[in-house]
Amino acid sequence: MNRKEFIQSCTFSCLGLLGAAALLQNCTPSKYIQVSRENDQLKVAKSEFVNLKKNKTSKYLIVKANTIPYPIVVYRFSDTDYTALLLQCSHQGSELNVNGDILTCPAHGSEFGNKGEVIQGPADQKLQNYKVTSDADHIYINLA
Ligand code: FES
Repeated sequence: MNRKEFIQSCTFSCLGLLGAAALLQNCTPSKYIQVSRENDQLKVAKSEFVNLKKNKTSKYLIVKANTIPYPIVVYRFSDTDYTALLLQCSHQGSELNVNGDILTCPAHGSEFGNKGEVIQGPADQKLQNYKVTSDADHIYINLA
């Protein structure tokens, strides 16, 4: 192997490792929690975002409640900044999949960002989002 072939081989190996790392990051399993609806709110402990095994804070978690037909994904941007999005596609209502910061629709391929904005159609409307408030220990998803 000459020098040029060696450099090309190393470059492709590094790119492969970077691609594999990115793929594994997106394969992190989503955390689901079941909560009860209290009046028009869902109450979620902030500690649910903490992954004790990895000693880090998760970017998002998925909340289910018996009275809501679709799960809600809650993105955490900071200790006081959250977005709660209904995982119902704005095109024809299929349940969305969460792939990190991208929400994808298995029905026709629409994609949404972590603020509910359309990235790729055929959907042309944002996702339904809910106001989120917080105190020291909890966040409150306001469904009204
Ligand atoms: S229902 Fe989601 S893209 Fe059609």
